[in-house]
Amino acid sequence: MLRYWTAGESHGKALLALIDGFPAGLLIDEAAINVELVRRQGGYGRGKRQQLEVDNVDVLTGVWQGKTIGSPIALQVINRDYKLERLKDLERPRPGHADLTGAIKHLGSIRGILERASARETAVRVAAGMLAKQLLAQFGIDTIGYVTELGGVAIETPSGSLAEHRRLRDESEIYCLAPEQNQKFIDLIDQTAEQGDTLGGVIEVRVEGLPIGLGTHAQWDRKLDGRLAQAVMAVQAIKGVEIGMGFQAARLPGSLVHDPIHHDPARTHEPSLGYTRPSNHAGGLEGGMTNGQPLVIRAAKKPIATLRKPLESINWETKQPQKAQYERSDVCAVPAASVIIEAVVAFEVAAALVDKFGGDSLLEMKARYDLYLEMARKA
Ligand SMILES: Cc1cc2nc3c(=O)[nH]c(=O)nc-3n(C[C@H](O)[C@H](O)[C@H](O)COP(=O)(O)O)c2cc1C
Repeated sequence: MLRYWTAGESHGKALLALIDGFPAGLLIDEAAINVELVRRQGGYGRGKRQQLEVDNVDVLTGVWQGKTIGSPIALQVINRDYKLERLKDLERPRPGHADLTGAIKHLGSIRGILERASARETAVRVAAGMLAKQLLAQFGIDTIGYVTELGGVAIETPSGSLAEHRRLRDESEIYCLAPEQNQKFIDLIDQTAEQGDTLGGVIEVRVEGLPIGLGTHAQWDRKLDGRLAQAVMAVQAIKGVEIGMGFQAARLPGSLVHDPIHHDPARTHEPSLGYTRPSNHAGGLEGGMTNGQPLVIRAAKKPIATLRKPLESINWETKQPQKAQYERSDVCAVPAASVIIEAVVAFEVAAALVDKFGGDSLLEMKARYDLYLEMARKA
């Protein structure tokens, strides 16, 4: 069973991820993890903090001579902006944050809550997800995340290969697939910032090269659609998750929703075993299992809750009405969230791969993967 937890506060000494159940024998590419950590800090609309520090992963345990050894892997990202002990408590909880509810629940301070609730923690979720992505690559599985809507304005997603999409996305400061529209969205973010306001958006993640049968139909807590929805929804500020056609499927007749099944004998060597679909409204998942088509999942991110023109709140001591507190903050973190959503999706898919093909070693997984495809081709 492949799983992970994280620890660490936003302005604490470091963030940590502890990954358990990672197979032995994978050569880790730390530089590739760092590229994604830096991408998570970027994207147009982020606050000053991101310019203060450049994240870097340290693989503390679970590796010998650059390769995983099957023991727990501890990842660390140092906070160069460490100052937690010097920081004061907040006096006025910010609506849309964990501030008020967490302070009441823990009978404690607002600071003690916001430091952990902050999306700074996702730095190590990205590190863990990128390690998972390297495992997926060994099986020809690739992932991409990009922004499809920002501030209520839809952004085109052209057709093309995942490699072409990655090139387009990496040209875009808002991590979308239409870099020629960058300026329009940069202007929108700037205007919103001038008004003391913030923006949300929609992110899409696609996973390609999947074999048929990851996940299960048999038990609710191991269905891959459910696992993915939890992982994505558990990212800070995500308020909706859609798989494939998502909510639109509820509004159309079945004939326009379900993907017909065809078979192309010339493609049986592919992980989809030659089963093709003229459409992919299911987003690559049927009955909680991958069906060999690309997995497509979307996340709705709410606008940043810390507003320079603050909403009404109360004073935590006196309970008298006061404006909410302003802490240094992003105006738009939708591009950054696309890096995080891709990482958490990659981790869940890798966990399902480990479940199906055994998690002790990469070599064994590969042998079992090949055997499964061979047997499934004859099924
Ligand atoms: C990449 C990313 C960056 C974020 N940056 C900020 C920020 O600078 N200021 C802020 O108030 N909220 C920010 N958030 C959102 C809060 O962390 C989140 O809304 C808050 O913890 C409450 O959790 P909830 O929205 O999931 O209920 C960010 C979220 C993400 C995904």
